[in-house]
Amino acid sequence: MSQTDKDLPTLRPMREDDIDRVLEIIYDHDEDDAATAEQTYRDAGMADKFVLTQGKTILGTTGFNAVEDTDRTYWLSWTYLDDTYRGKGYGRLMMEGLFERLRARSARKIFLTTSDYQDPEEGDIYESARTFYTSLGFEEELRHKDFYAPGETMIYYGFRFPDNDSVKDTAAVDDEGRPVNAGAVLTGITEIPETRDAYGLEWRYTQDGTYFDERTVNKALAKAREWKARAVFASFPSDLSGIEGLMKPKGFTQHGRLRDFFEDGIDDCHWRYDFKLPKEGEDSRGNNQRGRNDQRGRDQRGRNDNRNRNDNRRRNDNRNDNRRRSDNRNDNRRH
Ligand SMILES: CC(C)(COP(=O)(O)OP(=O)(O)OC[C@H]1O[C@@H](n2cnc3c(N)ncnc32)[C@H](O)[C@@H]1OP(=O)(O)O)[C@@H](O)C(=O)NCCC(=O)NCCS
Repeated sequence: MSQTDKDLPTLRPMREDDIDRVLEIIYDHDEDDAATAEQTYRDAGMADKFVLTQGKTILGTTGFNAVEDTDRTYWLSWTYLDDTYRGKGYGRLMMEGLFERLRARSARKIFLTTSDYQDPEEGDIYESARTFYTSLGFEEELRHKDFYAPGETMIYYGFRFPDNDSVKDTAAVDDEGRPVNAGAVLTGITEIPETRDAYGLEWRYTQDGTYFDERTVNKALAKAREWKARAVFASFPSDLSGIEGLMKPKGFTQHGRLRDFFEDGIDDCHWRYDFKLPKEGEDSRGNNQRGRNDQRGRDQRGRNDNRNRNDNRRRNDNRNDNRRRSDNRNDNRRH
């Protein structure tokens, strides 16, 4: 029987009474994601989240989150199709519906992250997702090697919507309309969720061109060392000209960027610092440290776009928009 347009699944906004079914679909693939997703739906609601439906049946879910303080940049949120409907073109259909909505918002870029996690039984379980996104026009932009745990890479993909270039009207001014000369100060260092011992630097803009000094970086690294970090990650907009001179001498390396993340011509530059790892079973003083991480196990490997997006946001939270004006919108963790 041929499928008529009437039978074709359609994308509609997600509602409160869809939550249980959506969580079931996510849970089938990843229990951790389901738990995080539930928390997010309950706390932040379902704005910009969608379900693919055929009649009353929910086949899958997708959605997006606007990144504050950027020029129409978005992250893809949880994107899952019920197992029984995979490989039949419905994923593509679901993304077409999503892109239609993004185009209606004049979206400029959308990003997602995934991983190369090798499941001991099933192997590279995200390979098909990577092929899927590539087939939709996403391009790989950045890799964080050993991000979640040694051997597991986080991979960023970006998609550029044609015809939606940034309008360059962006002379930086503060609330009173005075010109702003942006700098940055570090505000903290926290463990990145879903990783094993990876930490992220947090920072916020200054409006008088001042930057953190090397002592603050030293302090952050000392804390990370004390906490037995494997690596410290940080990312800054490419137009913060003072960053390179501060990060490089401290041993950070810039290892990639998300192109045009903030607006056309302003990338998100990613830095990392890798600690020398002690030999297996020993800490840096040669003591046995088995057991410290045992309870975490392998099940906290992250690779879902939404979680990764959180990770990324943790480090970006404090970016106030002082290119156009500064209004202290700090809390963009909502998604
Ligand atoms: C990823 C997912 C949404 C794709 O949806 P889908 O309906 O299975 O994909 P489609 O049938 O629409 O396929 C579209 C394209 O994706 C690629 N693709 C899909 N499944 C694939 C597979 N198993 N192996 C290789 N490529 C695959 C193909 O390039 C395909 O192009 P084609 O139509 O020209 O053959 C779905 O498989 C899924 O939910 N997977 C599990 C959850 C997941 O991994 N989510 C992403 C988290 S990062």
